[in-house]
Amino acid sequence: MKEFGHFDDKAREYVVTEPATPWPWINYMGTEDFFSLISNTAGGYCFCRDAKFRRILRYRYNGVPMDAGGRYFYLKDGDTVWNPGWKPCKTPLDFYECRHGMGYTRITGEKNGLRAEVLFFVPVGYRCEIHRVRLTNTSSAHKSFQLYGLLEWCLWNASTDMENFQRNLSTGEVEVEPDAIYHKTEYRERRDHYAFYGVNRHFDGFDTDRETFIGMYNGFDAPQQVLAGTSGGSVAHGWSPVAAPRFDITLEAGASEELVFVLGYVENPPEAKFTAPGVINKAPARAMLQAFATPAQVDAAFTALKAFWDDLLSRFSVASVVPELDRTVNIWNQYQCMITFFMSRSASYFESGIGRGMGFRDSNQDLAGIVHLIPDRARQRILDIAATQFPDGGCYHQYQPLTKRGNNDIGGGFNDDPLWLIFGTVAYIKETGDFGILQEPVPFDNKPGTEVSLLDHLKISFKHVTDNLGPHGLPLIGRADWNDCLNLNCFSDNPDESFQTTENKTEGSQAESLMIAGLFVAEGRDFAQLLEHPRVAADPAYVAEVRAAVAAMETAVKKDGWDGEWFLRAYDFYGNKIGSHTCEEGKIFIESQGWCTMARIGAEEGLCDKALDSAVKYLECEHGLVLNAPAYTRYLKEYGEISSYPQGYKENAGIFCHNNPWVIIGEAMAGRAENAWRHYCQITPSFGKDQSLRKVEPYVFCQMVAGRDAARPGEGKNSWLTGTAAWTWKCVSEFILGVKPQYDGLLIEPCLPLRYGQYRIQRRFRDADYDITIRLTGAGGSRFIPYRPGRQVIDIEI
Ligand code: GLC
Ligand code: GLC
Repeated sequence: MKEFGHFDDKAREYVVTEPATPWPWINYMGTEDFFSLISNTAGGYCFCRDAKFRRILRYRYNGVPMDAGGRYFYLKDGDTVWNPGWKPCKTPLDFYECRHGMGYTRITGEKNGLRAEVLFFVPVGYRCEIHRVRLTNTSSAHKSFQLYGLLEWCLWNASTDMENFQRNLSTGEVEVEPDAIYHKTEYRERRDHYAFYGVNRHFDGFDTDRETFIGMYNGFDAPQQVLAGTSGGSVAHGWSPVAAPRFDITLEAGASEELVFVLGYVENPPEAKFTAPGVINKAPARAMLQAFATPAQVDAAFTALKAFWDDLLSRFSVASVVPELDRTVNIWNQYQCMITFFMSRSASYFESGIGRGMGFRDSNQDLAGIVHLIPDRARQRILDIAATQFPDGGCYHQYQPLTKRGNNDIGGGFNDDPLWLIFGTVAYIKETGDFGILQEPVPFDNKPGTEVSLLDHLKISFKHVTDNLGPHGLPLIGRADWNDCLNLNCFSDNPDESFQTTENKTEGSQAESLMIAGLFVAEGRDFAQLLEHPRVAADPAYVAEVRAAVAAMETAVKKDGWDGEWFLRAYDFYGNKIGSHTCEEGKIFIESQGWCTMARIGAEEGLCDKALDSAVKYLECEHGLVLNAPAYTRYLKEYGEISSYPQGYKENAGIFCHNNPWVIIGEAMAGRAENAWRHYCQITPSFGKDQSLRKVEPYVFCQMVAGRDAARPGEGKNSWLTGTAAWTWKCVSEFILGVKPQYDGLLIEPCLPLRYGQYRIQRRFRDADYDITIRLTGAGGSRFIPYRPGRQVIDIEI
């Protein structure tokens, strides 16, 4: 099996050793509101707050070649032109390495006795990328060469930047100073922001007009100025503005030089936009350049970034005999949870950052991965999400990060959405003990004056399900439940309309969801437990109502949701079964097996064990559990988008990793450690997968791995931004390693095969540091450790 790199766990890095990876292997930078995507060849882009409306660098999706554009450095050394990250010139390098670390990427290239190491990071507290370029003459002779930087500016709105050329090609504006290039397109009108690319050394030449720098018929791989060793001194007027500074450098044998580039973003108050007519106020940019004028300042900022991640990752760690497990838990899974929380589903190499806002359900689930890391931000996120709810409990399916307003293009009507607010809030309170959040006033649809408490929002969420029951007393599905592609009321004949927003035939619909039923039972129980807690002490009559509704749902599932060997998936518009042995295709689905077993519906009657056995029998393959089986081989109009996917991909029998942990948790709750562990290893990338087959980054989970019916089973797609991150975290930390936050302490209840002997967990929980050694004896059971501030050393046999 060909390897393109390896883990360096001590440094918390993945080391890419071959630039031509099967797909760009990327990393993210940023911790607050300025974020960057960077590939292993320095491709990618950055934005402030919103990847659509405040895009700083231009990026071309689906380009040929792949991943064109980024922050490129060119070295012209004699007749050889090369890049430290190999691309875009692709000149063969004598040495190449890319280290993706926590919030930074370091790319090193060496050619003909010249070494260039570029450290990229976004410093904590600043809206900029630092590019520290360290050049070393490793030869025995004196060297004179040129270094160029190159960025291409996006005209801010990433969507119109790709569409409205009749306008765009005339709006571009820049200002140039001896050591910085300012991009100020549209600053003359309503924009109060600009971007800049500055360096701690004066340029020896520059270009800001793409055509002058690259040449009309050249690509990034052959900029005419670099090939000639010159600069055009161009100042962009319209067309395509870039920033391409040049430096003429001489290094004695063995000597080094460091240059610090700052790619920054500035917002000015409207009254302080200009210093003279048409001249932008550069003071904030100057201050940023001053803050990173010396290598020592850069070192300090880099140390602060490391400290930020060290602090976060020290909050939960495991030491076991399985290095892949430790690496996943201690480093990459938590890191991915943070990135997913920051980005939601907006910007990745599979998500354009233009189309989707923050999902109501997605954002709530993402909380489960970060409540233990950044509880304050989780709190704010919960309140933001809840504020997009409607008074009847329904929700906007998505909201925009810039405005925090619900997104009218997608609308609402996804009937699982409300329940996820209970899920997210419960996870947050169990972690923090902050019951006070329940009393926070939160409006509906962001309308001032409509505020009720967050607790009331939860009650309305719960009620939304009981207000929308179908003929079997099971929840009506609406536009879709968790499975966005199960559009049971859509009936679309028109290839030009979206399944998710087209008019749904809800009138007379009998489409019910067993996934929502399981979710309702599980979350309903959690909700009742929350209500009964002395710090909430809700009206017992109301709690009894909640418990009764949960019990009624269990009865309904057992009566009309059980197929004999597994849980049904749904009833369609006409009341026909989906996910039944009586169906021709799509006889069994994963979501209802996961949720109904997590809810332990019919556990005493053996239903959970049977359903889990069926999941193994019909859904499991070496790469994980597929979503449904058999896959749909033809389009069924009354099922919607699910059957529009060819078999083996996405929601049609792909391994949709997000839902595998549901079954794993179901297995753990049933005490079936071998199955839980096997399923976990199947989807977890660090357990040695074939990198060429898997294609996407070997250090993060992906949303989907092609299922056994696909052309290449095991091929990964949609890496990084997926609910898989939070769910695998919840599954491994709480159910496999067995450390479950409760309102008043930690419940230890592991489910790991006995052969792994013992392990040690260090976990920060509120103001306490728990150091827990767990010895697996096979005795089973659980141990409750009450919360008490301070340090606690605990040794448990279980
Ligand atoms: C994507 C969506 C998520 C949905 C899932 C299944 O991951 O972001 O909201 O639940 O697909 O369709
Ligand atoms: C598409 C995708 C699905 C995703 C949805 C989100 O339907 O196939 O996976 O959940 O878009 O809007």
